[in-house]
Amino acid sequence: MSKTTAINDCISIEMSGDIALICIDNPPVNATGQAVRQGLQDAVEKLNAEGNARVIAIYAAGRTFVAGADIREFGKPFVPPALPDVFNVIEASSVPVISVLHGTALGGGLELGLSTHARIGIEDLRVGLPEILLGLLPGAGGTQRMPRLAGIPFALEMILSGRQVPAKEALEAGIIDRLEAGEPRDIALKAAKDVLDGTLQTRRTDQIAVTPDQGALDQTAAHLQKTQGHLFSPHKCVEAVAASTEPLVAGLKIERALFMECMDTPQRAGLIHAFFGERAVSNIPEAKGPAREIAHVGVIGGGTMGSGIATACLLAGLKVTLIEVAQDGLDRGVATITSNLDGAVKRGKLKTDKRDAVQAMLTPSLDMQSLADVDLVIEAVFEDMGVKKDIFGKLDKICKAGAILASNTSYLDVDEIAASTTRPQDVIGLHFFSPAHVMRLLEIVVADKTAPDVVASGFALAKKLGKVGVRAGVCDGFIGNRILAHYSKTAAYLVLDGATPQQVDNALEGFGFAMGPHKVGDLAGLDIGWMTRKRKAATRDPNERYAGAVADRICEEGWFGRKSGKGYYVYDSRDISPNLAVDTFIAEERDKAGVTPRSFTDQDIVDRYMTAMISEAARVVEDGTAKRPLDVDMVFLFGYGFPRHRGGPLHYADTIGAEALVARIKTYAKEDATYWQVPALLEKMAASGTSFADMNKEA
Ligand code: CAA
Repeated sequence: MSKTTAINDCISIEMSGDIALICIDNPPVNATGQAVRQGLQDAVEKLNAEGNARVIAIYAAGRTFVAGADIREFGKPFVPPALPDVFNVIEASSVPVISVLHGTALGGGLELGLSTHARIGIEDLRVGLPEILLGLLPGAGGTQRMPRLAGIPFALEMILSGRQVPAKEALEAGIIDRLEAGEPRDIALKAAKDVLDGTLQTRRTDQIAVTPDQGALDQTAAHLQKTQGHLFSPHKCVEAVAASTEPLVAGLKIERALFMECMDTPQRAGLIHAFFGERAVSNIPEAKGPAREIAHVGVIGGGTMGSGIATACLLAGLKVTLIEVAQDGLDRGVATITSNLDGAVKRGKLKTDKRDAVQAMLTPSLDMQSLADVDLVIEAVFEDMGVKKDIFGKLDKICKAGAILASNTSYLDVDEIAASTTRPQDVIGLHFFSPAHVMRLLEIVVADKTAPDVVASGFALAKKLGKVGVRAGVCDGFIGNRILAHYSKTAAYLVLDGATPQQVDNALEGFGFAMGPHKVGDLAGLDIGWMTRKRKAATRDPNERYAGAVADRICEEGWFGRKSGKGYYVYDSRDISPNLAVDTFIAEERDKAGVTPRSFTDQDIVDRYMTAMISEAARVVEDGTAKRPLDVDMVFLFGYGFPRHRGGPLHYADTIGAEALVARIKTYAKEDATYWQVPALLEKMAASGTSFADMNKEA
């Protein structure tokens, strides 16, 4: 007969003879919030004081063992006990303590395991120290105990990548002692009996000596300096691991101090905003309603975009019919998909033995009638309203009732496209980002008449494809491209006024973008912007300063960027160097416009670029194109390479403050009052002292 005592709402002790089973039950992921910390400490102290238990086994209820510290408590007043202190109590327990890990034992969860005297993994377990992804370091003993169990090089790799290590590898590395199959409670009881009969050995992690490895530490530190100089926590992780050769008490003290330094950085706040934002974007009533079933998808257009979308759907296990108008186009589309799938195998995203079966789910066709039975069609042909309307008119006649008709347009009016059918309620925009099988953003563009279950289906599709679905309203460019169209002019103005393209790129790369805007332009193809400028020439605001002068000159030479070997830069196999001819174009265009070049600091460049981005982002929130500031942030993090540790443009805006932003815009407006206008929302926020974070909370 066993007897269970509740220590508090999250922790209970079940006595089975002289075995004590401590159960952690704090849904959804058993995070170590205050009650878990307190309960664990109380339970272990009580069992030691009472002296009835000869072994203690800790396990967790629900889908996973502890997935880490409770991130929601970060940045709030701290309530003891601290996690490292709880783990010290566990490690010092004179009654042996073992732990049974299942699901994902991450961060503080794995550190809890490391402080026990033996660890049993349950099949499919993954362990990890993902704190680095939140701008932190494993601050509850992870940097000290992991090197003791798995060695310094393994600990460094694991901590700096934040990756989830599969159970088998964890066993081989010495992180867990055994791997078993079964329910956590049953395994806990069995393993505890094994401790009693001597078939499972226990030992205190703090008594294991670390093998020093200064070479690995120095090499890693030098590499990080080169590749991640702008980040804070990776360097602190190395410092903390270096302290693991000290006695545990001293090492833990150093780890704690470094952890608190990380906790205080804006990078930590930005990364945690990104973590919760990614989950909050689909946490809206529209995403949660009943959705239509999608098993078979039709993709129209076998270009880069269509093939990428088809690949994403195939990788998610969906059947795909790919439509093109001519055989050569269709062959090219199939070849692109084939090479995308090969790439997925190489990147470990698709198992080799599944590859052929996935490709077999693809049916290429030249006949639109093949779409008669699909559940969803995604049109991905070139951006021409006439062509799109023609296609949607045909789909209206061909597709079965209830099929969802989606356009991958990146800026056209989805209401107008919907009006070319007799079923506008079934029409939606699904805007993917290139390469569509890699980029995680999916803008779900809701038109006036789109039915609620079609919107919910868009979110369900995003989830199925492993993408971050963000709701957007209809306007030219939706959320992302509309904001991009505005702020990219700033880069051009900076060059016309005195900066070089390289200086602009370097300044923004220093801010954290992987590539500056001119390098991105070269990569995407300068001809795309050129065509857009020509198309919009007739409707351009005559008062607006023209931003395309230099880019036009480059394109007139037939230089479209990387694909033609030249653009803002010259590409010579792996080498990239500034295109000196561009300097001449810039000088001539300045002369023509009567501009006397002036100098900008890198900070000036970042300030102007970010202020322009924030201004249009504020307008997008103000007019409802984006429902919440965090939706804009996620669009930029997952679709535009915005530095994750900055949290997104509007999270970053809060670090400057509305009042300072308004003051900046007013200063810039003295040079160009057409481009630099204060958005009404920012003005209001400045007057009321509110932030975008406040708006996120209210929404
Ligand atoms: N704290 C608080 N809430 C958390 C959480 C945490 N550590 N981890 C997940 N959650 C919440 C999510 O926000 C989500 O809440 P909503 O349902 O309200 O949106 C819910 O738990 C479920 O999470 P997911 O939707 O992500 O579920 P999943 O099954 O896809 O993934 C997971 C589960 C792998 C555990 C994933 O949530 C995850 O990676 N969590 C973060 C793990 C982590 O970073 N741990 C380290 C924390 S820092 C630390 O431990 C510091 C230290 O050293 C002391």
